[in-house]
Amino acid sequence: MPETWWRGAAIYQVYLRSFADGNGDGIGDLAGLRTRLPYLADLGVNAVWLNPWYPSPMADGGYDVADYRDIEPVFGTLAEAERFIGEAHALGIKVIIDVVPNHSSTASAWFEEALAAGPGSPARERFWFRDEPGDWKSIFGGPAWTQVPDGQWYLHLFDPGQPDFNWTNPEVHAEFHDVLRFWFDRGVDGIRIDSAAVLVKDFDGGDPDGYTDLDEVHEIYRGWRRLADEYDERILVGEVWFPDQERFARYLRPDELHTAFNFDFLACPWEPAALRRSIEQTLDTHIPLGAPPTWVLSNHDVARVVTRYGRAETSWDHGNRRDGAPSDLELGHRRARAAALLAMALPGSVYVYQGEELGLPEVDDIPGELRQDPMWTRSGHTVPGRDGCRVPLPWAGEEPPFGFGAGEPWLPQPEDWRKLTVEAQTADLGSTLNLYRAALRLRRDRLGDGTLTWLQSRPDVLAFTRESGLTCVVNLGADPVRLPPHESVLLASGPLDGDELPSDTAVWLT
Ligand code: GLC
Ligand code: CA
Repeated sequence: MPETWWRGAAIYQVYLRSFADGNGDGIGDLAGLRTRLPYLADLGVNAVWLNPWYPSPMADGGYDVADYRDIEPVFGTLAEAERFIGEAHALGIKVIIDVVPNHSSTASAWFEEALAAGPGSPARERFWFRDEPGDWKSIFGGPAWTQVPDGQWYLHLFDPGQPDFNWTNPEVHAEFHDVLRFWFDRGVDGIRIDSAAVLVKDFDGGDPDGYTDLDEVHEIYRGWRRLADEYDERILVGEVWFPDQERFARYLRPDELHTAFNFDFLACPWEPAALRRSIEQTLDTHIPLGAPPTWVLSNHDVARVVTRYGRAETSWDHGNRRDGAPSDLELGHRRARAAALLAMALPGSVYVYQGEELGLPEVDDIPGELRQDPMWTRSGHTVPGRDGCRVPLPWAGEEPPFGFGAGEPWLPQPEDWRKLTVEAQTADLGSTLNLYRAALRLRRDRLGDGTLTWLQSRPDVLAFTRESGLTCVVNLGADPVRLPPHESVLLASGPLDGDELPSDTAVWLT
């Protein structure tokens, strides 16, 4: 792999709880992941990103971290994690892990110490304890302050199980430097920084959003970058969600993060002008900084792309999730396949959220009593939340658990996923899985880092060429479009009609 592996990498997101279950308790784990590593190598990805794997009460699917230097026993052991890193490396797969610096868990040693030590103690200064609650709202609904038995209140931007750290305290900085070293020393290649833009708080400005993207946050990442640069080729990837591209780009300055998730592209509707604007804006903000763009269609927080693209409204909006909105899945599926070829052809790195390669839809009918996302409880059962994109993967066989593991999966899998298993799709040449395999393989040699040149096209068509000579054409219009002159068709997201590219179809040409 080239020295700067991350600039053009295809990165597969493993949501560990739902990837593969090795011990039959219905929950995905490291044992399951390790046995499935050949699947990932064969798929052709360069790296994996794992959601948090630390000891956790799971108030927010592991984003409530009780100990940053160990592994959740349900997932395995630290020794197993180390073996996993070695095995991934042996297959040429880099490992990115999730670090959650904004908040901890009420089950962490620091929080327990803070509770025991009482008001005014240095232990409370690692979090935000106050005598009176503020009026900020939690991102999951309800107030952002919760009272403890001695009367004080603590801040949690997310679930009450996730107390926010006080980043004005040097101890917090030192702790995270130590955590980064702990994992870099164990061979981890990159850190995905959770909720990266909200670490610094301004309680006095009167702004109900006095935590998003405050200038002081950049000093934190400059420190992290200096640390990462002491190692070889380790990267920092920011989860930075907000619309201002100018401000977003600041996180990618040469002495800060290497890359950040491109949520502008993820949130973009399936419309030619909007997509083109998003792509151009992304390139315009990244190229001057020398930072490679990333292309993201989905993750564990948003609706599955097949379902989203089949809805009347195809954009994504955190504030209006549209959970359960009707979707034409056949249409969504066609568009999601075309979008995959678009994302993989663009300059930079690309993320694939587990199950995207199987074309899995969102599962909308999970019974309320089985839902685990705090969004569901915190919203008073009005927002179903994110469980529908976190259903355990179907691997093989005719009925649930579809080879996920021996036990009953922690969220139920739809019966009709028998058509979507890895086994069924491997046998079907036209399957989405085989499309991803072929695309990722072609992408390795011909795509990734670099630039693009737009080709003249109808306004409802996106067409561009890459340095390697590969041309990508995506038809977002209602009518077929004639292919530009070419030598051969390398790959198409759906059947072509002679020399015509049908609606909602993408093609790679040379
Ligand atoms: C990020 C994670 C999300 C989590 C939240 C709080 O947005 O992706 O899953 O709930 O941070 O940690
Ligand atoms: Ca398990």
